[in-house]
Amino acid sequence: MKGEYQDLNNNDNANIENNKNGAKAPSSNFMKFFCVGFFVLVILGIGINAIVIFVALKKPSPPEFQVKNAHVAKFDVYNPDPNDTVSVLSTDLMFSLDAANKNLIVGLQFENMLLDTSWDEVDAHLGETNVQNFVQKNKGVTTLKVNTQGEMEIPLKSVKVEDMSLDLQLSGQLHYFIGPLKTKTYAFMVFCDNLFVTNVNTHCRTEIFSDGELPPPPEHKSKRAQAPGEAPSPSDEEDVEASSPADSFPPVRLILKDDAVIVDNGLLAVTIAKPGGFVTGIKYNGMDNILDEQNPADDRGYIMMRGVSGLYSYGIFERENWPSLNLANARLAFKLQRQKFKYMVISDTRKREMPVPEDRIPPKAEQLAYPEAMKLIDPQNPDFKGEVDDKYQYSMESQDIKVHGWICKDPPTGFWQITPSYEFRSGGPNKQFLTSHVGPSTLAMFVSAHYSGDDLVPRFEEREPWKHVYGPVFMYVNNVTKDQDFGTLWDDAKKRMEAEVKNWPYRFPASQDFPKAYKRVNVTGRFFVHDKYVTDDKVPAQNAFIGLGPPGDAGSWQKDCKRYQFWTRTDDEGFFNITFVRVGTYDVFGWVNGYIGDFKHDAPSLNITVGKNVDLGDLIYNPPRDGPTLWEIGIPDRTAKEFHIPDPKPEYVNKLYVNHTDRFRQYGLWERYGELYPDDDMVYDVSKHNFKKDWFFAQVTRKIGERYNGTTWQVQFNLDNVVDNGVYKLRLALAAATNSFLEVRFNEPKPSPAMFNTGTIGDCNSVARHGIHGLYWLYNVDVQGNLLKRGDNTLYLTQTKGSGPFQGIMYDYLRFEGPSTSAM
Ligand SMILES: *[C@@H]1O[C@H](CO)[C@@H](O)[C@H](O)[C@H]1NC(C)=O
Ligand SMILES: *[C@@H]1O[C@H](CO)[C@@H](O)[C@H](O)[C@H]1NC(C)=O
Ligand SMILES: *[C@@H]1O[C@H](CO)[C@@H](O)[C@H](O)[C@H]1NC(C)=O
Ligand SMILES: *[C@@H]1O[C@H](CO)[C@@H](O)[C@H](O)[C@H]1NC(C)=O
Ligand SMILES: *[C@@H]1O[C@H](CO)[C@@H](O)[C@H](O)[C@H]1NC(C)=O
Ligand SMILES: *[C@@H]1O[C@H](CO)[C@@H](O)[C@H](O)[C@H]1NC(C)=O
Ligand SMILES: *[C@@H]1O[C@H](CO)[C@@H](O)[C@H](O)[C@H]1NC(C)=O
Repeated sequence: MKGEYQDLNNNDNANIENNKNGAKAPSSNFMKFFCVGFFVLVILGIGINAIVIFVALKKPSPPEFQVKNAHVAKFDVYNPDPNDTVSVLSTDLMFSLDAANKNLIVGLQFENMLLDTSWDEVDAHLGETNVQNFVQKNKGVTTLKVNTQGEMEIPLKSVKVEDMSLDLQLSGQLHYFIGPLKTKTYAFMVFCDNLFVTNVNTHCRTEIFSDGELPPPPEHKSKRAQAPGEAPSPSDEEDVEASSPADSFPPVRLILKDDAVIVDNGLLAVTIAKPGGFVTGIKYNGMDNILDEQNPADDRGYIMMRGVSGLYSYGIFERENWPSLNLANARLAFKLQRQKFKYMVISDTRKREMPVPEDRIPPKAEQLAYPEAMKLIDPQNPDFKGEVDDKYQYSMESQDIKVHGWICKDPPTGFWQITPSYEFRSGGPNKQFLTSHVGPSTLAMFVSAHYSGDDLVPRFEEREPWKHVYGPVFMYVNNVTKDQDFGTLWDDAKKRMEAEVKNWPYRFPASQDFPKAYKRVNVTGRFFVHDKYVTDDKVPAQNAFIGLGPPGDAGSWQKDCKRYQFWTRTDDEGFFNITFVRVGTYDVFGWVNGYIGDFKHDAPSLNITVGKNVDLGDLIYNPPRDGPTLWEIGIPDRTAKEFHIPDPKPEYVNKLYVNHTDRFRQYGLWERYGELYPDDDMVYDVSKHNFKKDWFFAQVTRKIGERYNGTTWQVQFNLDNVVDNGVYKLRLALAAATNSFLEVRFNEPKPSPAMFNTGTIGDCNSVARHGIHGLYWLYNVDVQGNLLKRGDNTLYLTQTKGSGPFQGIMYDYLRFEGPSTSAM
């Protein structure tokens, strides 16, 4: 009888929420979320050693079980840069383990197997593979094939393949069926030392631990395997110190329990539930668990390193032949101890004492227009009485979400989510995501439809293959003494974030799906903008956005949610470096503050290949422009924040945003439109009004009884002269749209037919979510001169739809251009 089990990775469910209709998507059959370094620890370069000690279980004689064969399929060292002293060790190891079961009636099941390979010569840890549920039938030989793949830098110039010898360690648990309803479980370990690339049938030893007996000290010249001299206690846990670490930091220890794995590096101890892989506990700074124990958790993988006060995590989402799927939401979520972590910091100017989750539960609070927004009536801390709490008030643009989290004041402790790069997040630099909020929750968001709508929900056809690495992200914990200012925890977290950014791309992920620095390239160039009605010549685009995204039309990057994007900002001279771009095919995109529209480099898509940095030279953006500016409203910056943003109603205040640059984050501002304009809609005269004071930031609906109506805004302007057969241009740049239908008329109000309409657009919900923008839209509307007249003119902007309070449009910028001067 011969079974085969190949290419085994730990299959865990990704943390996927399908928010549509509130339904939870069944995740197990379509998503593969594995994290190398899952139960793990051992990272090359800092020489972490780990020792696993196994539960000693009771009684009878174990079945005969023997590894006969270990085979190394590929093991290679190459030198990508001959001038560099660092080589790359590339492994694709296939181990075939023949297990012989001589027992006539007994079948075996192997569980929780962890294959760990290392190379002592260079203190290398080559990878580990988690294997679940390998069943061996009675009487026969079963071949278990296990792959580990990995790449890592090693400080050697060249290595002869024949000099490389590997150690292999397979640990796991063996179920031994002793009757139809009875099983026994034994921990086992297999040691294969000094494996050479070509050899088979090597010296492997099998240890099966029963009756509380400890594994004898393996005769292993490896530093990694030293057993304690002491017999273990009969308890179900025991940890073992690894031998003299090279570093000054304590080693990472792994403690196996029936339902959990504890990873402890001396600074913090993280409990990861088994099976499933979610973090249920983090012990730090004298607190047994800084995580909230009342909350369910999701699946994910983690990496812990020696001497590092925190935990790295990343997920690889992969699908092949699965049914179609919409992935509405992907993230990592941590909930901290609610009575401990009460001070939240998401930026230098956005930090405050926060309510506790109980404060949000009626009757202590009252729900406002949607469940996320609660008015606090009887909060634990009376200072919050009457305030609004809403997690959307703490969202942020992707480019800015680098560090945020919580502070516990006693003992003074910080918990921070650090994201050094947003290359893996959907939607590019301006996509907004949630950060931290009452819970106390800290999120690492990867995919969401917030501030964008369905356009940013990855959709997969049946059998559409996809693979995407989210992360690694870093959960950092820090502390100060009680006599120090707790605010320094935030300063330290920022410093740590900067250090993590410098370390990007990380060297430690063992997965080949996360390319290391030497496999990425830099793209440089200089970005100019030339609006011929503003300057005669091109000028450097300053602080402009320039980036690489999947091939597509100009602006398509803001709706991309399946691929990687790489963005940067130009310096004062327009120069840019887009660093560490992954291999792939990209178009070059950009947008420039102060100019409308989207830049796309007019050239064949860029094929990024390893070892070839790209210099794009001078790129010139010619923003849409046909004639001179007759009038303009606002600043083309893709937001509505320069317009009139009213004070919140006194009963809807979040004190953080009083007297704050982000006053648009207050709850309920949409309702103020009807108060400011109780009878007639906004009328804006370009010659006497000031958009900062007189242009309401959102063209929302008007409430009439229990119904809502669309609204019509008027822009009044005067023309000294009209070219009857000339073509004028209306540039309508929108910063957000939600279920809107915008009609444009000149001088003839409704019901005359609209000269232009947008159709139904938008799903970003940025009005309700206090975003000052969602997705960007630009309409370029031709206006025949004969629609205009000398003297007073009126532009009517009618948003026709009226079904709810959050509906409407945020304008970014409007410009009216005369006919091209060359045509005059
Ligand atoms: C290595 O160094 C030599 C001499 O400085 C230089 O000519 C060559 O281009 C370098 N090779 C690489 C791959 O950088
Ligand atoms: C507090 O932080 C320091 C580093 O600033 C660290 O050495 C120490 O171990 C931390 N204390 C605890 C209790 O984890
Ligand atoms: C890309 O630029 C970064 C930052 O300047 C540098 O560290 C890295 O070595 C460069 N990569 C290549 C392939 O030139
Ligand atoms: C780009 O990289 C070069 C070389 O590292 C550096 O001199 C320059 O300042 C960088 N420019 C920007 C805009 O980051
Ligand atoms: C990149 O590759 C694609 C497909 O292989 C090809 O069509 C395109 O011309 C290439 N672009 C460049 C700049 O070579
Ligand atoms: C608001 O901010 C201004 C300037 O930053 C400051 O002078 C003023 O005291 C602040 N008012 C309140 C009530 O915080
Ligand atoms: C509201 O909209 C309805 C339907 O378009 C219209 O009949 C009604 O007159 C509007 N009400 C007001 C006050 O504008």
